[in-house]
This record gives sequence, C-alpha cells and structure tokens, in this order.
Amino acid sequence: MSLGRIAIAVAVWLLVAPCLGEDAIAYRQTVERAAAAHLEALSGIVRGEAPAGADAAAHAQALVGLAAEMPRLYPAGSEGPGSQARREVWSQASAFAGAHNTYAQSAAAMLKAAQSGDAATLAPAFSTLALACKGCHDRFVRN
Ligand code: HEC
Repeated sequence: MSLGRIAIAVAVWLLVAPCLGEDAIAYRQTVERAAAAHLEALSGIVRGEAPAGADAAAHAQALVGLAAEMPRLYPAGSEGPGSQARREVWSQASAFAGAHNTYAQSAAAMLKAAQSGDAATLAPAFSTLALACKGCHDRFVRN
C-alpha cells in the first residue's frame, strides 16, 4: 500500500470512527424496542386478549435470540451521547452480566413454558421474564 493510500484509509477511518458509537447506540435501542414488542405480544397472550392461534413460543423464541445478542450490544466506548444506559453498564460489568444472565435464563424458561402446552405455566414465566427486564433497567437505565 502506498503512503497516499494509507493516508486516504486513515482519513476515511477518522471520518467514520466518530459515528461508530452512535450506530451502536441506535442499533441496540432498536433491538431493545424489538424485545419490548415481543414482551407486549406475550402479555396479550397471557391475558387472553390475543386471537386464537397466537404463538407464545414464537415470541419467546425471539426473546431468547435477542437475549443471546445482547452482550455484544454494549461495547466499550458506546456510552453516548444519545444513550439512556448508565455508566454502571461498563463500570460494573459483572453486575450487568449477572442481570443479563437472569434475563437470558428467564427468556429460556418462557420458551419452555410456551412449548409445554400448559397454559397455567405461562403467567408465572411471563412475570419472571418481565421482572428480569425491570431488574436490569432499575439499575442500568436512566429514567
Ligand atoms: C441486562 C440489562 C437489560 C435487560 C435484561 C433488558 N434491558 Fe432494555 N435496556 C437496557 C439498557 C442499558 C438500555 C439503554 C440503551 C441505550 O439507550 O443505549 C435499554 C433500553 C431499553 C428500551 C428503550 C429503547 C429505546 O428506544 O431507546 C426498551 C423499550 C427496553 N430496553 C425494553 C426492554 C425489555 C422489554 C426487556 C426484557 C424483555 C429488556 N429491555 C431487557 C438494559 C437491559
């Protein structure tokens, strides 16, 4: 690579690099909203408001997938501006990982309940899951 090309590559990187943190924030907020939509759909099913044939397992499966992706959504250097995440996401990384783990496990339990065909197991699994969202938010999201 010639020096000129390296200079151009560096210039392009400098142009793009400041946006990386913002892209990470916008993307994870989209993913968090997707999780909220699936949780809301599950809420409708649990309350019996959804039409017959509504698929609790599909929404739970989506949440399992979104939960698996979550640890990669908070890279170092993506604190903001434009983020509601508290600093503690990074400064108390092991507590954040613990909150994430609780969430991932409760999403898996929700999926199991949905697949069991036993409607009575849905409501308790749903409230455990919703509390896992809230548990992380209370500690790691600014109001
Ligand atoms: C391990 C921690 C954690 C868990 C678990 C978690 N969240 Fe979040 N959530 C966050 C953080 C941190 C933010 C702030 C993201 C940002 O603004 O950069 C956020 C943001 C959000 C937002 C706002 C997105 C926006 O438009 O700005 C919604 C809605 C949301 N979460 C819903 C949920 C739901 C529903 C669940 C459970 C199904 C959940 N979250 C689970 C940490 C978590």
